[in-house]
Amino acid sequence: MADANVTITARPNGPLRVEGPIRLIDVDGTEINLEGKPAVSLCRCGASTKKPFCDGTHSKIGFQAAEAAVAAEQRAAEQK
Ligand code: FES
Repeated sequence: MADANVTITARPNGPLRVEGPIRLIDVDGTEINLEGKPAVSLCRCGASTKKPFCDGTHSKIGFQAAEAAVAAEQRAAEQK
């Protein structure tokens, strides 16, 4: 069951901000030390050099989250 104290917020064209007491486990099953970090930003653009964390690269590469891209395509189609 999900912990009701965890909040995940999608930043506009950016990372997923995860707030709350969480455990973060990498692909090898190793727990990433989040001691002293009440919140983390997880990369969703795939370009961070500090995965799984966001390092700000999303803004340099012009990352557009799926929702924004779909909305932009819909606007463009409606203008035709
Ligand atoms: S979301 Fe920020 S570097 Fe990927």
